Amino acid sequence: MCFNALQRARRERLTVMSDPLATQSWPRLEALARARGGRHLTDLFANDDTRAQRYTATACGLTLDYAKQRIDDDTRMALLELFDEQGVAAAREAMFAGEPINTSEDRAVWHVALRAPDADPMYAPVHEVRQAMAAFAEEVRSGAWTGFDGQTITDVVNIGIGGSDLGPRFVCESLARHEIPRAHFVANVDPHDLDDTLAGLDPARTLVIVTSKSFGTAETLANARVARRWLIAAGASEADIARHFVAVSTNEDKVKAFGIERMFGFWDWVGGRYSLWSAVGLSIMVALGSERFAALLAGAHAMDQHFRDTPAADNLPVWLALTGIWNNNFLGLASHCVVPYAQRMANLPSFLQQLEMESNGKSVTREGAPTTVATVPTIWGSVGTNAQHAYFQMLHQGELAVDLDFILPLSAPEDAGGEREIERVANCLAQAEALMCGRDRQALRGELEAEGLSGQALEHRLAARQFAGNRPSNTLVMDALDAHHLGALIAAYEHKAFVQGMIWNINSFDQWGVELGKAMAGQLVKDLAADNTPSAHDGSTDRLLAQVRAHW
Ligand code: F6P
Repeated sequence: MCFNALQRARRERLTVMSDPLATQSWPRLEALARARGGRHLTDLFANDDTRAQRYTATACGLTLDYAKQRIDDDTRMALLELFDEQGVAAAREAMFAGEPINTSEDRAVWHVALRAPDADPMYAPVHEVRQAMAAFAEEVRSGAWTGFDGQTITDVVNIGIGGSDLGPRFVCESLARHEIPRAHFVANVDPHDLDDTLAGLDPARTLVIVTSKSFGTAETLANARVARRWLIAAGASEADIARHFVAVSTNEDKVKAFGIERMFGFWDWVGGRYSLWSAVGLSIMVALGSERFAALLAGAHAMDQHFRDTPAADNLPVWLALTGIWNNNFLGLASHCVVPYAQRMANLPSFLQQLEMESNGKSVTREGAPTTVATVPTIWGSVGTNAQHAYFQMLHQGELAVDLDFILPLSAPEDAGGEREIERVANCLAQAEALMCGRDRQALRGELEAEGLSGQALEHRLAARQFAGNRPSNTLVMDALDAHHLGALIAAYEHKAFVQGMIWNINSFDQWGVELGKAMAGQLVKDLAADNTPSAHDGSTDRLLAQVRAHW
């Protein structure tokens, strides 16, 4: 079979995945949810000594405990059948083979190639860029690369947004330990983001990395222009700019037109939200060094291998995905909260918001028809234990039921057993347990009676303090918060998004929904200019526009 025919055959194989409602497993899962979805988690444990062991998946130093999900063995089997019936394994092969599974843009989705081992000649262009990044990072870190007045670089500012910001920001914040150069991340076009960042920095010792796949994102270019003026105002000549500005992009022409000489490239088959492994990770490499960047890639690659080679029943990313599908599509939990119990991982929820909601926030199928099932739930969250003192009340007793991922990195040796570490770990485990168990009505009644309450007062207090529990969660334990385990964690969530998108039969790799707002912003930028007659919008937008113009 010639290459084209092979491609065609593979594409046809991909279209095997179709309406999830047409599978045999979907109605079975609906029936299971109706019949058993309401069963209390504590009963599931009561009848099964081995549940905790059996409902655990481990890979690459990560342990996913999904025993606190409202599933039993039959549900588990039916979910695995759904995985099979929707052809996820074949689609996974197509992704790993670099086939154009991003059908609306006819592009491959090949971020797994970015972390493939160096020895494989198939990935030579990837390795060339990585070597160039490493050489540059080493120059900066060693002090060989200097700013316009000969001083070494102490601060690196990554200017980028979305996928050109969230991944590198999350990784640097998770792993940096007060090293020089320090990494800073500026995404927002609100002047205070860049201005406040630059206010603390010495221009002569600052390197700016302008990161934009398209090099057309208005916010990024506006911030980059201001940063450039800041350097010039500090005494740098036009020629000096090359010592302070580098770009990461796929668009060489636009980078040149902007006036940046040095560019680290990547490819259209790297989606923005999957790009931290590419040159988009340059800020990571400069801040943390190429060895830790290599460890990050190695962790992700180990997870890739696990995802590709491990049967679905024991596959960690598959269970992240299937538990999410069960909660969202069958139990109707359309709100998913992620709570890392690690201050340094505070930006994980923001990273996952783009990864999962930009990937799977879709309502048309791969064939362009309306979807027949719910797709991505709302993803949100923040760091524990702080979150407990903000919105956990709602998670325990609110009307809206939410399912959670608790992320628990095990302690570094120097922290293990310390008072605050014990609190951190205890609180994480306690919240998952409390959400599951709730507050037993009879036991609570006994406690209140022991406190001397009776009659109406007791009933009133009982109603306020009792809650049913049965709120499902995953607990994902990381053996350590280091580059390897972080790479594995991020890759696991990438594969979760992939599996869910394939089961929902949507294209997880385009983001057409954000285009209209960008275009309208372009028009409104013109309309806000004082000397411009604004174009007509809807009544509300026209009134707001007039108010802002009058204020200026
Ligand atoms: O928000 C839309 C989006 O296109 C994201 O997908 C992307 O990560 C981000 O904007 C930034 O795009 P770029 O890297 O091209 O500046």
